[in-house]
Amino acid sequence: MHTILLLPGDGIGPEVVTETRRVVGWFTQNRNFSCTFEEDLVGGISYEKHGVPATDAMIAKAKAADAVLFGAVGGPKWDPLPFDKKPEQGLLKLRKKLELFANLRPALCFDALKDASTLKPEYVSGLDILIVRELTGGVYFGEPKETTTLPDGQKRAVDTQVYTTHEIERIARVAFELARLRGKRVASAEKSNVMMTGVLWREVVSRVHKAEFSDVQLSHVLADNCAMQLVRNPKQYDVIVTDNLFGDVLSDEAAQLTGSIGMLPSASLGAKDPKTGKQPALYEPIHGSAPDIAGQGLANPIAAVLSFAMCLRYSFGRAEDAKLLESSVECVLAEGFRTQDLMQPGMAKVGTTAMTDAILKALAKLAH
Ligand code: IPM
Ligand code: MG
Repeated sequence: MHTILLLPGDGIGPEVVTETRRVVGWFTQNRNFSCTFEEDLVGGISYEKHGVPATDAMIAKAKAADAVLFGAVGGPKWDPLPFDKKPEQGLLKLRKKLELFANLRPALCFDALKDASTLKPEYVSGLDILIVRELTGGVYFGEPKETTTLPDGQKRAVDTQVYTTHEIERIARVAFELARLRGKRVASAEKSNVMMTGVLWREVVSRVHKAEFSDVQLSHVLADNCAMQLVRNPKQYDVIVTDNLFGDVLSDEAAQLTGSIGMLPSASLGAKDPKTGKQPALYEPIHGSAPDIAGQGLANPIAAVLSFAMCLRYSFGRAEDAKLLESSVECVLAEGFRTQDLMQPGMAKVGTTAMTDAILKALAKLAH
């Protein structure tokens, strides 16, 4: 029996997690998938109840669970809060405490959506990129991280970009291993022209490649150039491995290539325990809490649903079920169902629940 911790969070998080739970339910009823759910608060809603965006009890539950399904955190209501109380800190604490160092962000353009992208269809149709983002290091967590007041009354803020050999090695291995299962090409993005961490990044990735993965093709690209190449000719990429901050930026950019950020799932994985085989894992849509449409039943549940597909694949070894779920999403898009973020003339506009209804119907159809 698997334990899944649901962390709906803020904004549209609860709506998309509720729908995902229905999809999980379909798998328990129809595919012999057994799981129990736990649920807890994270982000702004946790702050409201407990005064912090992540309680130790919630972190303990997340550690104990086989997988965490996360919604979204944040909203304008909490903007004035001090830094350490902000909803986003709840997510960052989860990543850090669970040591979820490997963030997989596939950017896949479904055929039915090739006209929904702001890029010309020939550039995005068939697009299938995997961004492997380092998630527990770099400027997000480096110390010092502070604001001080100078003698003349000015303020001075510092964030620290820092990486060790070990941190780079392990994320590089994840990228190369995943590349072996797909196009066998890795592009490593950094700023080795101006950053010491970039120089080390390039060195370590090259060494790991030479020693362990010479069957995979490796290229190095400066992160700014990578951002440009992603809109110039995105299909040149297979796997992109990069640090925490560049990964944050490049994955939003890649998301837009697929038509809508409402489409993109992600998996954040830790290292497998060599004794128990247990691997910490958190799955989340990469869109945020979208406070402007929260509570209106308009949110696109697909990114959250596809995050559960990643969960089936990576946490529960159910590649076939993952594929089935992905095909169902493809099917409803081909049938013309669109949430407002994807809406195009001639398509059927649906809300969050109706989109999930369509996915459940497609699952039933494709499973037979
Ligand atoms: C993401 C988000 C987060 C990040 C925020 C919500 C802390 O933008 O997962 O991409 O910056 O990593
Ligand atoms: Mg982001």
